[in-house]
Amino acid sequence: MGAERYVLANFKMNKNLFEVKKWADEFLSLLYKGKKLSLKVGCAPTFIYIKALKEIVIGTGFLVGAQNMHFEEKGAFTGEVSPTQLKDIGVDFVIIGHSERRNIFGESDELISKKLLSALKHNILPVLCVGETKEEREKGETEKVLIKQISILSKIPDELKNQKIVIAYEPVWAIGTGIPATKDKIEKAVELIREEASKFIKDFSVLYGGSIDEKVAEEIKDICDGGLVGTASLDPQKFYKISQNFDV
Ligand code: PGA
Repeated sequence: MGAERYVLANFKMNKNLFEVKKWADEFLSLLYKGKKLSLKVGCAPTFIYIKALKEIVIGTGFLVGAQNMHFEEKGAFTGEVSPTQLKDIGVDFVIIGHSERRNIFGESDELISKKLLSALKHNILPVLCVGETKEEREKGETEKVLIKQISILSKIPDELKNQKIVIAYEPVWAIGTGIPATKDKIEKAVELIREEASKFIKDFSVLYGGSIDEKVAEEIKDICDGGLVGTASLDPQKFYKISQNFDV
């Protein structure tokens, strides 16, 4: 049996409550009208809309995620949200180590590793993002960077090693630029990620993220296990088409 397939939307800091609800209604109606998808679809809105989204999709199998979390269960961490709080409102997955968290908010591999372990411990599916910057690629450091970012999996203790993890290959230069990575670059990186991750864990899926549109999804569906979609996911029609195209 192959790895589980996913198409996940990352809304980032976009949409208000009305727009999130409208998106969910539209996406669900497309889902019901069309051919049943065999992959898992989900969406990570901003924290404050998670509950509203969960209430709309409950019972449909649609996954609801968070874009970040703190690794501690509670405490004096102003502005942070804990894994137990996310579990409390039914969060299924959490994006960890997105490049915007790494680059804008200075998250280190060490911090990302703590968040990963915490998500596993609290039974929230982690979606670990890895990927090189433009500068790193130009210097020929892509492999080195990916190997280092994946190496945090070595810290997973034995009792959590059998849990499922989603890894998203997201080259930083392809995110939000409208210029996705080419198929051969994605294939090479995904292969490397699979090879490295399999040294530490058994049950994982590798997605691609970075300017995915329906054409990209069609093109790469056979070389990865789905996609993490930013800009194009904001439109329910586009996100539905991308989900269809990734469904093999
Ligand atoms: P993008 O974002 O689809 O807008 O490139 C992807 C992501 O950041 O996960």
